[in-house]
Amino acid sequence: MFFSLLDELTILLRQTLKRTESRPRTSFVAWPSFSKMSDCSASSHGDILTKHCETKGREKNAKAKKKRKKSKKPIVEISSRKDRRIITEYHTLNKTIDSVRKNPSIHREDKAAQIAALEAKKEKIGGINAYQKASKLGEARHGSFNSAKWILKQLRAHNVCANRTEDEKLRLLDVGALDNNYKKHAKWIQCTPIDLNPQSNEVIKADFLKLDDKKYDVVVLSLVVNFEGDIRKRGDMLRKCPKLVVDKGYLFIVFPRPCLDNSRYLNEELFVSMLESLGFYVCSCHSSKKLSFFMFRRTRQVRVKSFPKKILRKGGNHNNFAIVL
Ligand SMILES: C[S@@+](CC[C@H](N)C(=O)[O-])C[C@H]1O[C@@H](n2cnc3c(N)ncnc32)[C@H](O)[C@@H]1O
Repeated sequence: MFFSLLDELTILLRQTLKRTESRPRTSFVAWPSFSKMSDCSASSHGDILTKHCETKGREKNAKAKKKRKKSKKPIVEISSRKDRRIITEYHTLNKTIDSVRKNPSIHREDKAAQIAALEAKKEKIGGINAYQKASKLGEARHGSFNSAKWILKQLRAHNVCANRTEDEKLRLLDVGALDNNYKKHAKWIQCTPIDLNPQSNEVIKADFLKLDDKKYDVVVLSLVVNFEGDIRKRGDMLRKCPKLVVDKGYLFIVFPRPCLDNSRYLNEELFVSMLESLGFYVCSCHSSKKLSFFMFRRTRQVRVKSFPKKILRKGGNHNNFAIVL
């Protein structure tokens, strides 16, 4: 009797032990990535370590998230520096190509070779696509700034939006548009965004200098005149404006500040005189830390006048930005 009871007890104990051993250890299945953790993989205390691994896992995840959050800032800064480098290099290469093209002392064949090498450098940094993407990213990164905000503010301040209806929208030509910046105002603005190399389906591929002389109520040239490397073509861009802006219509031009504030050949007074000769007067202007904004109105007749390249600021520390009309 005693022995049969002992036998039964032994069998029961074996069965219990067997069941305990065959219990699944979910911790290893749930976090395969932790299988290399010595404290987990070496354990035979399934449940306790499952909890331990859970906590450790969460701690690790939280740490990883923190790390990811911390590392965000430098990455943005590095890429924004990269964007600026692309923009600056692209402008410099454009200017160099232009000066090589015009240099009479360079032999024709050498000229072609030098220009090809410079064009190849432009392609190496990603070409016009990289340049435009960098401009767009820069715009988004710096609080979604774009010239459209100032332009809309001025249009409202000068009551240009008054009495505009669905049938009589303001016809606005946005030259060098990275996107349709006036889409939100489609109720009163009919925007035609154009660019030599559109980065968005909303933008029409067109060269401003080759547009038919169709009239617009507003023409916007934001950071476009300075984009053109040829000083005469910059003048052609300004000359094109009276052909496209209706009488009493508006013209907006935006420049990086150094183009007017620190150029050897151009200052605000000369730039305004150029526009006056083309029939425009300044109705509003503004300077931000980096940009100069102008709003002109077309009221006068064009009085053709030429503006050759002349030194206005002497001395070393000036840039060579110029416009020849
Ligand atoms: C610096 S981005 C200006 C982007 C935007 N307007 C802004 O204010 O940020 C200059 C753009 O002008 C465009 N562009 C230059 N010359 C042009 C022309 N003749 N016709 C149309 N677009 C032109 C370039 O392709 C480029 O995308």
